[in-house]
Amino acid sequence: MVKDLCRLVYRSESRIDHNDDVALDGIFRISVKNNLRDRITGALALPDGKFVQVIEGARRDVAALMVRVRADDRHLNVTVLGNRSVTARLFEGWAMARPDPEPLSNQAFRIVTEDGSGVQVTGILLGMIRGPATAWL
Ligand SMILES: Cc1cc2nc3c(=O)[nH]c(=O)nc-3n(C[C@H](O)[C@H](O)[C@H](O)COP(=O)(O)O)c2cc1C
Repeated sequence: MVKDLCRLVYRSESRIDHNDDVALDGIFRISVKNNLRDRITGALALPDGKFVQVIEGARRDVAALMVRVRADDRHLNVTVLGNRSVTARLFEGWAMARPDPEPLSNQAFRIVTEDGSGVQVTGILLGMIRGPATAWL
């Protein structure tokens, strides 16, 4: 069990076209590889030209990842929505899930892309990968 587990949620603006599958696949490939190594779990969604990511792991490893993520010029304006100590992972088994924002209700979509808290965004991303609920809220 990882000691000092935390969960961080951030939102950012993509500088790469979200139809650019090659560029996106590159981000997911390196993320899964590194996150397996670092015992980081989470999800990365790409709604509306934004990135929304949940990252779980040892506080030190999450901090180290965030240094790399903040320095990454494939996105801008990295805004942390929440960063809390937790006792268990919600995204256990996911080195980096890729939930599809398409089926979200307008309200859930707005929470994820604009005005949601870290806890709200985490709940919605979790629902997106757990299914079968298609329209939250
Ligand atoms: C939106 C976004 C999310 C990312 N998420 C992760 C991640 O979860 N894990 C990771 O290792 N790198 C992630 N990266 C990539 C890092 O910014 C960085 O390029 C990478 O970790 C460097 O890995 P390397 O030192 O093995 O080349 C992400 C990049 C972007 C733009």
